[in-house]
Amino acid sequence: MCGIIGIVSNKSVTSNIIQSLKKLEYRGYDSAGIATIVNGDIDEKKCTGRVDNLEKILFKSPSNGPLGIGHVRWATHGVPSQVNAHPHSSEEVSVVHNGIIENSNELKKDLENKGYKFKSQTDTEVITFTLTDLLRKYDLIDAINKTLKKLNGSFALGIIFKKYNNVIVGARRGSPLAVGYGHEENYLGSDSYALKSMTNKITYLDDGDICILSNSKIEFYNSKNKKINKEILTLSDDKHNAEKGDYKDFMSKEINEQDMTAKTCINEYVDHLRQDINLYNFSIKPEEIEKIFLIGCGTAYHSCVIAKYWLEELTSISIEVDIASEFRYRKLKFNKKSLYIFVSQSGETADTFAALDLCKKNNAKTCSIVNMVESSIARASDFVLPIHAGPEIGVASTKAFIGQMLVLYILAIKISEVRKEISKSDYSKKITELKKLPDLISRTLKCQDKIQIIAKDFLESKGAMFLGRGLSFPIALEGALKLKELSYLHAEGYPAGEMKHGPLALIEEGLPVVILAPKDRYFEKTISNMQEVIARGGKVLLISNETNNVISENVRFTLEIPKTEDCLTPFLMTIPLQLLAYHVASLKNYDIDKPRNLAKSVTVE
Ligand code: F6R
Repeated sequence: MCGIIGIVSNKSVTSNIIQSLKKLEYRGYDSAGIATIVNGDIDEKKCTGRVDNLEKILFKSPSNGPLGIGHVRWATHGVPSQVNAHPHSSEEVSVVHNGIIENSNELKKDLENKGYKFKSQTDTEVITFTLTDLLRKYDLIDAINKTLKKLNGSFALGIIFKKYNNVIVGARRGSPLAVGYGHEENYLGSDSYALKSMTNKITYLDDGDICILSNSKIEFYNSKNKKINKEILTLSDDKHNAEKGDYKDFMSKEINEQDMTAKTCINEYVDHLRQDINLYNFSIKPEEIEKIFLIGCGTAYHSCVIAKYWLEELTSISIEVDIASEFRYRKLKFNKKSLYIFVSQSGETADTFAALDLCKKNNAKTCSIVNMVESSIARASDFVLPIHAGPEIGVASTKAFIGQMLVLYILAIKISEVRKEISKSDYSKKITELKKLPDLISRTLKCQDKIQIIAKDFLESKGAMFLGRGLSFPIALEGALKLKELSYLHAEGYPAGEMKHGPLALIEEGLPVVILAPKDRYFEKTISNMQEVIARGGKVLLISNETNNVISENVRFTLEIPKTEDCLTPFLMTIPLQLLAYHVASLKNYDIDKPRNLAKSVTVE
């Protein structure tokens, strides 16, 4: 997804813009660009592909101004190409933009009638020319305000000017934008992560805010054009550094770190001395909750589906789970006794944020479970439960999934305890078992070598199926999603009991089918479903914690995971599936950390 950087200084900013753009690469992008002011004129350089390409262009043809804007683009309007890459500049202004301008066609027609010649297919160029036009009649602030009023849709903007050549302007509506305070220089960025190497003093723009940055001061205006002050936050140091270390890629590091992810998260929430869970200032009274909605996208949505099973098992609260892009358009009846929980690694996902916003507008109680605590979703919700997973860089979510599940599970047992729906001894037993999880994860991670062999079986196949029941069903969905996004194979995750209602028709000789069958109350039924698959030629990989008594004749591979209580099995089931997707993609030589077409932070609808 697109990313913005802006730096205003008293020395050349080019190299710092490039370094900061590299920090934004994790979002996924297809082109990059930069604009600076050199000898009083706007100097724009852009390219398709990686920031490295931009660096090479700048090496041959330097562009050393004391202020500038940079961008990585993830195509929405117009194909990935050099001309569609940002910035979009006229003689007078240069603009980088995240988001979508919904009325760009109308604005474009008006501007073409006035004689403006468009070069790109993007929606952003209308901002460049609208502003250029208005700057002919108005001063900086008025021209900006009038331009923003004309735009429908969402945006985060970074703008530099030929005439006002010592300032950068930032503006936000819908897409996140952070401002950083430095020593004799100031910064603009899509997220604080990109600015962290330069400063830990950050302010976030709210919707409707405009900021004007010079190298010595920063001014803020709200949507009513009133000068405002904003709180400066000091970012905490990351406990986990965002470097690959000895690993080949971030994904393998993040998968292999998951025992530590679990340990850190458990330590944050479990009071070992009192054998209790501490949710700190959890301002919501669990006794008063009648219904919980769990909302997220992709992997985060899968953690919500699992939480539904836990909460139903442990409490009498009715639970609804929804994909954020669906939830935001439902005609919902909001209720004071309902709690709305939003799950998001980045905390910036546009659909999840819009769903949260809808709840807030209806005065609903909201809680978010996020990795990025400085994110828009965290800041907008009534209560935040961080997952403490540290930066997740690989586009495919792995350790954040473990963290999301953990916080949801911890929340479920705490709610149950407060509501007196679980006995004191069962509550204590659950905490004891939970504390063993990091070690169990570490033992499960030892299946790497076997998975590497199994992965070869997936190389020639057209697709794959993942089947499970109960708590293993959402893990089947997650296993299929991981395989799809990393290895570009068609993969279906299904509740095993649904097979006879259609998907069984897909089973043919040699199709890899992953059966998730822990020894729980569904075990026998899942094993029967497995036999139906085998009878039709499916090539079965059985993952279970009870493989001894299964007639494994015709099962191609069996993988044993450690035994634990049923509620915790999804954590262990997840690991071989992440490794499977990883090794299939690795054997195919695909870009593990940046799968095609995908972005880490999906900040557009
Ligand atoms: C899958 C994946 C995505 C994200 C989804 C939500 O591996 O990474 O499906 O889970 O885009 O992102 P967040 O959690 O940042 O809201």
